[in-house]
Amino acid sequence: MKITVIGAGKVGSSVALNCSIRELGNILLLDIIEGLPQGEAMDINHQLAERGVDCNVRGSNNYEDMRGSDFVIVVAGIGRKPGMTRMDLLKTNAEIIKGVCNNIKSYARNSNIIVVTNPLDPLTYLVIKSLAGQRANMMGMGGMLDLSRFKEHISTVTGISRDSIQAMVISEHGENMLPLIRFSSLGGIPLTDFITTKQSEDLTDKTKKAAAEVISLKGATVYAPGNAVATMVESIVKNKKTILPVSALLEGEYGYSDVCIGVPCVIGSEGIEKIVELKLNEDEMKVFDLGVNSVKNAIKSVSM
Ligand code: LAC
Repeated sequence: MKITVIGAGKVGSSVALNCSIRELGNILLLDIIEGLPQGEAMDINHQLAERGVDCNVRGSNNYEDMRGSDFVIVVAGIGRKPGMTRMDLLKTNAEIIKGVCNNIKSYARNSNIIVVTNPLDPLTYLVIKSLAGQRANMMGMGGMLDLSRFKEHISTVTGISRDSIQAMVISEHGENMLPLIRFSSLGGIPLTDFITTKQSEDLTDKTKKAAAEVISLKGATVYAPGNAVATMVESIVKNKKTILPVSALLEGEYGYSDVCIGVPCVIGSEGIEKIVELKLNEDEMKVFDLGVNSVKNAIKSVSM
């Protein structure tokens, strides 16, 4: 497999490391900054060599090297600073993504696309519309990252092994994300059997605020995003058909169309093989509606 990562900053390099260490394919790390992708590639290759992993990471400043990519991971763009929301990045990153899409059209049109750049859901929509591709092989990584935080907090609150946690987070990768307490379990036992209503509210709040807290402490989130992307790539490469929360283009599911939002999907060799429609209750649907409206408003403000 050839996996191209566009953007060799902290998150892009973390994606490259996480995909190569899982031996998912050879990585092309692309950036406009001379030397950055080349240096990151060397550093990762040194780690892989010690591990005896024969996947190779190559750094480049030339988009033409994307030719023949099976995957393109779109990480290019600016990250948020402390105090900013992801949506604050919309205008700047939308322009960057339009340029990236022109290069994907030229050199990697038929690849599987995973968008990471924030604000994730509107920019996933922008990429899908710009490339006019099949919605199945174009998706956004947002819910996977929220899920990582949700699982960590569930383990902390309950004291139960992270390995026993099944959980789900849907809706917007942003202010209206929806950690699904009702659909989460520990060893198959409902999460609600382990926590109080107050703890449920705290879990949701902590999951929402996790990224901003990490950014305020260390300036950016790095390892968890890279891992989350690699889990999505792995499910496609190995045809695992795992159910993962990804930002998908809805065409009637959950009563919505023409919007990208985080929903549970079966991810296999065809990409999004099925969008799973959960029976959400009134409170859950209210948050989901807020997320969809937030994304739709953002989409309106970005000329496609
Ligand atoms: C985060 C950014 C990548 O949640 O959206 O860490």
